[in-house]
Amino acid sequence: MHKILVLHGPNLNLLGEREPHIYGSLTLEEIDRRLVHAGEEVGLEVRTLQSNHEGALIDALHQARGWASGVVFNPGGYTHTSVALRDAISSIGIPVIEVHLSNVYAREEFRQKSLISPVCKGKITGFGWHSYWLALQALKEILQPAGTRN
Ligand code: DQA
Repeated sequence: MHKILVLHGPNLNLLGEREPHIYGSLTLEEIDRRLVHAGEEVGLEVRTLQSNHEGALIDALHQARGWASGVVFNPGGYTHTSVALRDAISSIGIPVIEVHLSNVYAREEFRQKSLISPVCKGKITGFGWHSYWLALQALKEILQPAGTRN
């Protein structure tokens, strides 16, 4: 069974309380619970981690190299600023899908720039917790052995 890291960046620990009109009312714990369940349904083992610290996110990406087949990553505000996270993603050699709860293209201009996108397999933005869900489905497709794809 493929193992997937779902990685959440800064301030996402406050989901549920944080600007619910933008990010919804689900807590991070509830989102993680749904993603573990959604993974089980499509045959993926989902492990989740959240950190507010850039270095801890980099460490988690490096470690994922050793155990995960893919990563679903919401880098939060670091999306728009972090060369170091971008370098980590391009170093690890496993597919990373960038996700955002909100539609970053419908928001402030500074959110429309992502340093991360060019080194990710793809990007899903604007569907609330379903952004993560869609990314899991995409990883499932990508990781299917060649010849068994639709
Ligand atoms: C976010 C969008 C970012 O611009 C913001 O800094 C976040 C959350 C999202 O999930 O919509 O922290 O990544």
